[in-house]
Amino acid sequence: MIYPIVVYGDPVLRQRGKDITPGTDVSQLVADMFETMHAAQGIGLAAPQIGKSLRLFVADGTTLHQDDDENEPGMDTFKKVFINPEMLEESGQPWVFEEGCLSIPNIRENISRRPRIRIRYYDEHWNLHEEEFDGMKARIIQHEYDHIEGRLFIDYLSPLKRRMLKGKLNDISRGQVSTEYRILAPLRK
Ligand code: NI
Repeated sequence: MIYPIVVYGDPVLRQRGKDITPGTDVSQLVADMFETMHAAQGIGLAAPQIGKSLRLFVADGTTLHQDDDENEPGMDTFKKVFINPEMLEESGQPWVFEEGCLSIPNIRENISRRPRIRIRYYDEHWNLHEEEFDGMKARIIQHEYDHIEGRLFIDYLSPLKRRMLKGKLNDISRGQVSTEYRILAPLRK
C-alpha cells in the first residue's frame, strides 16, 4: 500500500518516534514503506513521514548506484531497514551535501554532517546489528535518524536562511506545492 507522504507542518514530524516492541511483525509496514518510498523516488523514508510515530526507517541507495559512475563502495547493496536504532557515534570532518526531503518538497539545501557513523539497530527480522557506515550511506541514515528524533534538515540552516524559506514552507503546509506523489498537508483547506 502506498501511503501519502506527510509534509512540513504536521506535528508527527516533530515527535520522537516510539520504540517498537521487539518481535512485532513489521513485514507489512516495511513492505508499505519501501513501496511508498519507491513510488516517490526517495532513497530514505522514516515512519513519521507516513504518519506513524515509530522508530523505524528504510533506506535504499541501490537506485543511486545506477545513476552514478562514481559509485560509492557498497551502495549497490545498500537497502536496509532500521528499527529502534541508536546512533552511537558520528565522527570525521564535516562535509557539505545538498539534501532534500520528501516531506519538504522542492526545497534543497546544503547541509553539513560528519562522514562516519556507528549505529545499533534491529533489522526487520529482529536481528540486532552494530555497524559502521560512511559517505552517502551515513548521510542517508543521519537524515532518516533525524526524522525519528523529530528533526528536519532545515533545522540546521541559519536563522536568516530559515526566514527566507518561510513562505515556501507555509505553502507546503497548505498543500500548495507540486509533487509527483500524493501528500498529506496539515493545513490544506
Ligand atoms: Ni526526509
